[in-house]
Amino acid sequence: MSNNIIKIFDTTLRDGEQSPGASMNTEEKIQIALQLQKLGVDIIEAGFAAASPGDFDAIKRISEQIDKSAVCSLARCVEKDIKAAADSIALANHRRIHIFLATSPIHMEYKLKMKPDEVIKKAVQAVQYAKTFTDDVEFSCEDAGRSDISFLKEVLDAVIKAGALTLNIPDTVGYRLPNEIGARIKELSDFVNDRAIISVHNHNDLGLAVANSLAAIENGARQVECTINGLGERAGNAALEEIVMAIRTRQDVFAPLCTNINTKEIYPTSKLVSLITGIEPQPNKAIVGKNAFAHESGIHQDGVLKNKETYEIIRPGDIGLDKNHIVLGKHSGRHAFKDRLQTLGYTLKDEDINEAFEKFKILADQKKEIFDDDIRALVAEEITKIPQVFELVTLQLSDCNPGGVPNAAITIKHKDKLITDAAIGNGTMDAVFKVIDRVCGVNGELKDYKVDAVSQGKDALAKVIVKVAFDDNKPIIGHGLNVDTMYATAQAYIGALNSYISMK
Ligand code: KIV
Ligand code: ZN
Repeated sequence: MSNNIIKIFDTTLRDGEQSPGASMNTEEKIQIALQLQKLGVDIIEAGFAAASPGDFDAIKRISEQIDKSAVCSLARCVEKDIKAAADSIALANHRRIHIFLATSPIHMEYKLKMKPDEVIKKAVQAVQYAKTFTDDVEFSCEDAGRSDISFLKEVLDAVIKAGALTLNIPDTVGYRLPNEIGARIKELSDFVNDRAIISVHNHNDLGLAVANSLAAIENGARQVECTINGLGERAGNAALEEIVMAIRTRQDVFAPLCTNINTKEIYPTSKLVSLITGIEPQPNKAIVGKNAFAHESGIHQDGVLKNKETYEIIRPGDIGLDKNHIVLGKHSGRHAFKDRLQTLGYTLKDEDINEAFEKFKILADQKKEIFDDDIRALVAEEITKIPQVFELVTLQLSDCNPGGVPNAAITIKHKDKLITDAAIGNGTMDAVFKVIDRVCGVNGELKDYKVDAVSQGKDALAKVIVKVAFDDNKPIIGHGLNVDTMYATAQAYIGALNSYISMK
């Protein structure tokens, strides 16, 4: 492989999933992995196999379906973790095991309670063990940003000799400044020379993750670890779309370096991740934020009309963002719908197209104009669908007058039976949740609730995301999509319950 390619290692499904509230079910992870492959990422870190049977299963199923990108599982320097990682990726075309161990004084003393020479020994044993499963082994010096550079060299030298092909230098707590990262990566890559690939993995605690990644690339890093929309622990990881577009836009600085990313898939990937996680990028976020290409002031609008380059360094089309034009309406047929799906880059199975089309027709009856983002939301619902143990059939609400008693009557399908019931509550939403709990025999605790309009207009589709903890377990995300916000709310709550059941 050419040394001018910066490998993109995407960790949305592992570090990104560690974002508060970003947990995803297996079906959702598979769809994101397929989209990442389409985007052209070189390595997909699909999870941490030993973390839970659910994580293991998701990595295994992703490995079965991904054939171009390498699939990677994270592991601690522990035999059972490495074995689980190896088993989970066994069916992938290209398998990578990613092992990590902390190397900073504070982590070694307080967290690991290990001496530096014990750390080196453990790292070497872990790499050697991982090599018995795959040649492609990556080693990460956790908290490398605060590790002593001469100790880092000792560790890197030892793990290279044990067979590690990629050496990751994470700034785990996002502490470093770009010039410091640049200098450290230069020193380490001169030391490693061409014995292995140097990778970086920057967290965004000081808002510098992308700047630090670019500084690292300029100084010899040839793999960069990042996430879609910059999701990740605490303030997140370096955002993939920002790094890729910086390298592409500033070829005067970076050439001959480039990535394998198909930038036209950036917007669809960002949208899919935000629809699934319910975490929308901030409006002013670079590249994928709602306002990234909006020109508000008259002077700017005038300039852009005369010559786009007066105020635009990237064209929206470069990231796959076409104008959100009105595409279809209630008179559009199946052919037009399928055609639009293709233009938006979806290749769905016939049965998924049929179901999405049914939903589209229902929507077209309720909503005059259907925009691209409406279609993206419909498709995301369709492709991430899990078995509907409970299915919402009808919802009727009454009395939201002040002083009245709000109540909700519902019909839910369960094992081919229709169950109807009603409940009152301290508000309409409370009544809806109470009646669902009663019909389904659960006690859910609502941890978070969010509603967004998918596109514009008074009749816009409402996208509801709830986070619900059932039986005191970890909160689960549920999605609802309807022109009626309360109906979407009930769908989302039942969706979270179905997801909980499928994960169990
Ligand atoms: O931030 C970090 O150090 C990590 C490692 C596991 C690579 O995520
Ligand atoms: Zn990390």
